[in-house]
Amino acid sequence: MSIVGQGIDRVDGHLKVTGAATYSAEHRLPQMAHAMMVLSTIPKGRIASIDSAAVEAMPGVIAVMTHRNAPRLALPQGSQPKKEGGEQSKPDQKKQPPNPKLTLLQDDMVWYNAQPVAVVVADTFEHARDAARRLQVHCRAERAQLDFAQAKKTLRRPEPQPERPSDTGRGNFARSMERAPTRLDATYSTPMENHNPIEPHATIAHWSGDKLALYDSTQNVSGVQRTVASSFGIAPEQVRVICPFVGGGFGCKGSTWSHVVLAAMAAKMIGRPVKLVLERTQMFGPVGARPLTEQHLVLGAAKSGKLAALRHDTISSTAFLDDFAEPCTAVTRKLYASDSLQTSQRLATLNVGVPTYMRAPGESSGSFALESAMDELAYKLDMDPVQLRLANYAEKDPEKDLPWSSKSLRECYRVAAERFGWNRRNPKPGSMRKGRTLVGWGMATATYPANRKNAKAMASLLPDGTAVVRSGSHDLGTGTYTVMTQIAADALGMPVSKIRFHLGDTMLPEAPVSGGSQTVASVGPAVHQAARALREKLIGMAVADSASPLHGMAAGDIDAVDGWLVSRAAPARRQEMAAIVARAGGQPVSADANAEPGDEKKRYAMHAFGAVFVEVHIDPDVGTIRVPRIVGAYGVGRVMNRKTTHSQLMGGIVWGMGMGLMEKTEMDWRFGRAVNANLADYHVPVNADIGAIDITIVDEEDKQINELGAKGVGEIGITGVAAAIANAVYHATGKRIRDLPITPDKVL
Ligand code: MOS
Repeated sequence: MSIVGQGIDRVDGHLKVTGAATYSAEHRLPQMAHAMMVLSTIPKGRIASIDSAAVEAMPGVIAVMTHRNAPRLALPQGSQPKKEGGEQSKPDQKKQPPNPKLTLLQDDMVWYNAQPVAVVVADTFEHARDAARRLQVHCRAERAQLDFAQAKKTLRRPEPQPERPSDTGRGNFARSMERAPTRLDATYSTPMENHNPIEPHATIAHWSGDKLALYDSTQNVSGVQRTVASSFGIAPEQVRVICPFVGGGFGCKGSTWSHVVLAAMAAKMIGRPVKLVLERTQMFGPVGARPLTEQHLVLGAAKSGKLAALRHDTISSTAFLDDFAEPCTAVTRKLYASDSLQTSQRLATLNVGVPTYMRAPGESSGSFALESAMDELAYKLDMDPVQLRLANYAEKDPEKDLPWSSKSLRECYRVAAERFGWNRRNPKPGSMRKGRTLVGWGMATATYPANRKNAKAMASLLPDGTAVVRSGSHDLGTGTYTVMTQIAADALGMPVSKIRFHLGDTMLPEAPVSGGSQTVASVGPAVHQAARALREKLIGMAVADSASPLHGMAAGDIDAVDGWLVSRAAPARRQEMAAIVARAGGQPVSADANAEPGDEKKRYAMHAFGAVFVEVHIDPDVGTIRVPRIVGAYGVGRVMNRKTTHSQLMGGIVWGMGMGLMEKTEMDWRFGRAVNANLADYHVPVNADIGAIDITIVDEEDKQINELGAKGVGEIGITGVAAAIANAVYHATGKRIRDLPITPDKVL
């Protein structure tokens, strides 16, 4: 029986619950100093003066690093805005810094509120924090662009990315729309949101001569290595990035932000290792955010519900230093068959920190708009929302006209509807009550692409009979250690307990960013191939060894079971794997793999799909919304570990609930500063907010997607949930709320 699929406990669980798992800020180095960033308090302007001297005299202070004394970098970054707003000619690539979103104290410019403007280094964390709070930075403020309505007057197109054009279209939208008897035209909006993993960003930088070691909390050790090396003008091999554990990432740790390079600059400046940890408040500005979006949906349908025309135009906020587009239209391009379809993405530029990926960037915010609009259309048509979706079921990828590698969405609708009891729903708004409480039932579709990138791995058998498998991937709390160990165990024919998986180090074979829900689909095949290659190598050694009981046998006749090589025909002929290593001189035997995607993407469209059903209870007097239950069913390919898969989906659903009802970065738009920059005022669901979450993973076999058949489960869980809640709120109250989050004031 295969070990892959079993819901085994996390192999790193014991380390975590005993505190033995070392997170980035927990490494201790001799002579280590502590750094604290000082952030700007204006949204745009220039630094006029900094009173460093007063702070330098404070107890324990070692240095105050500002734009005046900071080490000059090989390639100054963020010194010029990439865009001034409005349609612009392309910037001169040669003059572009390698990472324009970083601000590294190379000049006196301020481009957003909460931009790093100084770093205070002291002997203890407390001294650094105290000194940083007292540092006076005087700025000359300039007029900032903080009015979204104003910024919308000079929209820009995002730079087209491969696979993701800013605009798409097919069919004749205007003509199809004219002919459609039922029409919907609505605008939806989602707010700015900030990532708040329990572990904030943290970096320890340690120079030894011209070599730099970084302990950094990241989803991409190789990405940090490249960005930091290019900032200092040194070779990537001179930078080692180590990150065995990540206390949550969600996208904000997918790229390298200023503090990582600043820690290395400070360490260089004082000639000692430096630790820099962001305070919770500093998570709101300099390390990315989900941009706010405004999404215009136009739908036209026949009486049968069949979509004739579908249009989705998205505007999302971006920053002056660099662009990020929240690709809300991505779902609309894939989800429904429609004769004509038009989508566009535009950017409105504000003096804010550069936005970034946040769990299902685009799919979560976009599915709120699209799946709310589908619900509105269902009401206009007097049609069941599930039936409307089935009437427009995309049998092929509507964008690329390719067959799906697998798609179980019909089954997801069926299973989730049945488990929820959807057929007992009275569709009339306000018709279902429990005493005075308004009851609402709503549903939505979930989807996320199945991504994959190149990954390398190495598997070794040690003389003691244990195996070590290595790949420079990451475990964000998601279960990478566990799942990779399971994959290796099956491929090697060894028990899980005898395998250790190493990740999170640029010294290991290179793996891609752990983002886009692609770790299992990318690193899994590399681990599988390396482990298979090692097993073949051991079999080859055994059959060539005249002293082996397996000597002379055909390799194909030998199986690997529980750490032994065994003859299939005559199981008494067997040899322990450890004995083969010992016979060969006692040195570890290793094999490498470089796993690359093939051309499957040219032949198939690859997506995970799901359906989510929500019940809300609303107090008609005060507008509070409770969510007693959520039922989801998902087709995500082959499940690697039942327990971690369930946890991933549940975590996504919980976050989707937060997105629907609570989450919003409240900006003071006079200053472009978040006013709820802490976990007391920035609301996310807590245990008491969560009711029953019922998750079914439908059986799905996908032979095209990758050799493991796995689609990735990190992000699909959040998608659709906010829409299902909005739809349930409408069903309960008759009030359509098109602006997230759905707070009590909007319900009343
Ligand atoms: Mo995820 S937002 O791709 O880290």
